[in-house]
Amino acid sequence: MSTHSLTNKSPNLSPVHLPYDPEEYPRETSRHYISASDEDLSAMLQKVGLSRLSDLYSHLPPKKIFTEALSLPEELPYLEAAAELENISKKTNLLPSFIGDLLPAWQVHPIVSEISKLRPLSTSYTPYQPERSQGTLVTHWIYQCVLSNLTGFEAINTSLYDRSAAIFEAICCARRSRKRPGPVLLANSLFEEDISFLQTHAQGTDLEFELAPVDATSGRLDYARLEKMLNEQHGSISALVFPQVNALGLLEEVDQLSDLAMKWNIPSIAVIDPMLLATGGLKPPNRFGQHGVDFIAGEAQHLAIPPSFGGPGLGLFGSRFNDQSKKDLRNTPGRYIGKAKDSQNRDCFVMVLSTREQHIRKEKATSNVCSNQAFLATIAGANLLAKGENGLKHSLAQAMGSRKQVAEWIMQRDGIQLAFSDTPAFNDLLVSVEEDPAQLLKGARDRGIHFGIDVSSRIPGNDKKLIKLSFSDLQSERDLTVLKEFLWDYFPASSSKKREVVPPTHLLRNKPANLPSFSHDELINYYEQLANLNISPDDGCYPLGSCTMKYNPLLNDWAAGLAGFSQAHPQAPEEDVQGPLEVLYQIQEWFKSITGLAGVTTQPVAGAQGELVGLKLFQAYHLSKGEGYRNIVLIPKSAHGTNFATAATAGYASGIVYLQANENGMIDLNDFRQKIDQHRKNLCGIMITNPNTSGIFESDFSEIADEVHKAGGLVYMDGANMNAIAGVINLSKIGVDAVHNNLHKTWTIPHGGGGPGDAIVAVSERLVDFLPGRQIRKEEDGSFRSYLPEKSIGTFHRNWGNFGHKVRAYSYLLRLGKEGVPRMSSVAVLSARYLFEVLRYHYPTLPAHAGKIPRMHEFILTLSEQDFVKLEKAGVPKSQAIPQVGKLFLDFGFHAPTVAFPEVFGLMIEPTESYTKPELDRFARAVIAIKDLIENYPIVVGSAPHFTPIDRVDEVTANRNLCLSETLTHLPSLPVNRIQPKALLALEIDEIKSRILQLHDLSI
Ligand SMILES: Cc1ncc(COP(=O)(O)O)c(C=O)c1O
Repeated sequence: MSTHSLTNKSPNLSPVHLPYDPEEYPRETSRHYISASDEDLSAMLQKVGLSRLSDLYSHLPPKKIFTEALSLPEELPYLEAAAELENISKKTNLLPSFIGDLLPAWQVHPIVSEISKLRPLSTSYTPYQPERSQGTLVTHWIYQCVLSNLTGFEAINTSLYDRSAAIFEAICCARRSRKRPGPVLLANSLFEEDISFLQTHAQGTDLEFELAPVDATSGRLDYARLEKMLNEQHGSISALVFPQVNALGLLEEVDQLSDLAMKWNIPSIAVIDPMLLATGGLKPPNRFGQHGVDFIAGEAQHLAIPPSFGGPGLGLFGSRFNDQSKKDLRNTPGRYIGKAKDSQNRDCFVMVLSTREQHIRKEKATSNVCSNQAFLATIAGANLLAKGENGLKHSLAQAMGSRKQVAEWIMQRDGIQLAFSDTPAFNDLLVSVEEDPAQLLKGARDRGIHFGIDVSSRIPGNDKKLIKLSFSDLQSERDLTVLKEFLWDYFPASSSKKREVVPPTHLLRNKPANLPSFSHDELINYYEQLANLNISPDDGCYPLGSCTMKYNPLLNDWAAGLAGFSQAHPQAPEEDVQGPLEVLYQIQEWFKSITGLAGVTTQPVAGAQGELVGLKLFQAYHLSKGEGYRNIVLIPKSAHGTNFATAATAGYASGIVYLQANENGMIDLNDFRQKIDQHRKNLCGIMITNPNTSGIFESDFSEIADEVHKAGGLVYMDGANMNAIAGVINLSKIGVDAVHNNLHKTWTIPHGGGGPGDAIVAVSERLVDFLPGRQIRKEEDGSFRSYLPEKSIGTFHRNWGNFGHKVRAYSYLLRLGKEGVPRMSSVAVLSARYLFEVLRYHYPTLPAHAGKIPRMHEFILTLSEQDFVKLEKAGVPKSQAIPQVGKLFLDFGFHAPTVAFPEVFGLMIEPTESYTKPELDRFARAVIAIKDLIENYPIVVGSAPHFTPIDRVDEVTANRNLCLSETLTHLPSLPVNRIQPKALLALEIDEIKSRILQLHDLSI
């Protein structure tokens, strides 16, 4: 796409340069990103028997509805919003930087930004429908294979939230799999932020930690004391976690650590950086000690994107899966892609091992993670292919060259010296200084450099003043010159001779990683083909209920990529990152207003993590009142699997009490009252999805909340369905104590093939003091500063969550303004109610007795008993009928609705506000045509889908004969669409129907 310079009408704003012409994308420029015209909206209102958008909420208690406008600004026209975003981004002061530390940054191949523009890859949902998601599945397969090359691990999952989350999940997995009792031994040379994340998660659970001390003379683990600890308590240690490169940037003795764990049969978890494992780098973890470690966890964000003020991250997790070691895999968290065959024996890929996941096993799931960081895995894989063996080797060599040069310069000065110069390091450089590190860092900043990070406090009892510098392929010759000038200016020349130990070979890789390499053109062409195998909500209704697949504005992605946002390092001095802090501050304040609640944390990166934040806040609140014994969490049976899995993760596995639904699909008040009476004394709280997963507003919500509060409990609202009520219902008035706001649903963040998501949590007054992470305040001089709430429960993300997504949401809200938020929700509800009104004459609906209850943003269709019988006679058993009907949607160019959740025999449809009436009408015609096929030609259902690149996938065999990685010598060969999705969308519905029939030698 070429760059478009567009001039603003406002004389105060400079022209912006967009890489696309917004006028070419009608959804992009429509008001509030609502494509339907006023005439469309009037006609839809008429069809549902209403006259105004506000009538859509007339069945809800009026006192709970916002009566005043939200405290958001007026909406901005497109180009003014763009100019505003650019202005804020320019408030970041980007200096030559030697800060890496928690979040290293490396050059990302330009191919990544081209692939990020392939919307069917970046905006599609988790590949639950493999026949229409081969694009995403192949990108994840590539990720698994290349990360397997680098790490030597056979089973790499396609992402967890970030490094801390990956370590946590590895620990849970090790404990579950090996069933060893006792605390986990953590190296105290891990990052403090990771340790603090683990401690936050362990609160209130049976997970305990002991810290293995750091030796103040070497800067790395005190191996003698560690060995003594293991000798004394090996029988009661459930896992050992250690870093390859520690928080001071020094190399740990990984062979010794791995062998120690093996000697005592303790599962070992190594924390690694995959970039450093390339050829010319460090030893891969499968080769640590005699047999390698059992699990790996690490951060891979820098393989995909720049620092982006801390997020999205890319949590790397791996376990062994070979002839000697297989058993851990079935206990691992997260998603894996496996090789498969379709019913015609075509090669393809499919998600495997999902029987461990929350949507199936609820509180017994291996983890509560649902949305992950999928798109980062997609682009990390592409980056590694594009850089290839030589590119990565070259990057490492450049980093090491720069480091060597700077180390030599430092050895020539006085007042600064290499710290622990007898301990090997790799691409980090640890120096000790005589003056106060804060003064020195300020001095460097005044000369235009971000010199490094003060790490003096990382060795307990240490009196050295330590600064850590990090090197990568990003630092230019000019950056090094600026650094040299600073050193020469600041420190006098030294006459003494100094030396530094080099890393011994046993800590280094001794064989090439053998990554494949492909040309830029070959890769672009390949990824474009992959994109053609998926579909995007850009092109038409993507009716996945509960997932809110709405249009994702291009403006948001452009904004997130602005250098002032994407290049900002979360550990840079706050004075230099005022742009990102301003965005976070505004988001914090706007979400208080949108929810009506008192406080907000921007840390959680997905709905499931938001749920965990909520329950941990409840736990802390009860503890603060001396009521830590409260251990019962009420959850409606129809809730999403993450609610149960989260409660278990938070320490309530044995305290989950299911609530029944009444015949209208709402919480059954009698059942609720009985349960609350039974558990009053020990009630921790309740989790309620509202509107619920049947698309119905829980009209007794306030009453339920009052009773929970009276019993001393707290109320969590699963906000997955906020798209129906955002800016309309004041959550403080219905008694919510905590709610997550999925940015990847309501707030237009692309789903990325399964993530990254983001989920700002808003809380009531009761919980404000306990919020995790840092809050932002605006000072009198207009600057922004962060602070930690006094009773904070700790941290759920090393920084601010998925900051890039905060920029996207901010950009969206600039365009929506105070009127746009409730209008967006209203049109989403109208679209659903309109479709429901059209379709309910063709399909039975669920809940079976809720026919007259107005639907909110989504609704559930099902089949009649006669239909199930017909299908059964045509060879489709009842258990398979709904999933198979879902596949017929693919034939009409749509994604399938959500099948079999929350009702086993349900098709849950959520149209969102993004589509015009003609588009919704076409979708409705397709759904009606599908019904006709079921009734009159049931034989076609069993063989669906017909036009996708592959036929139905044999998931059973793929799970039985797991193949999770292989050495890539060529790009996997791809199937071709039998009819392109865009061509399907251009065909008349009857035409598609008759083509399906023709395939079966039938005619209409
Ligand atoms: C109702 C509901 N709750 C929770 C979740 C979990 O959210 P996330 O995938 O963002 O973790 C989902 C995901 O689809 C959901 O639909």
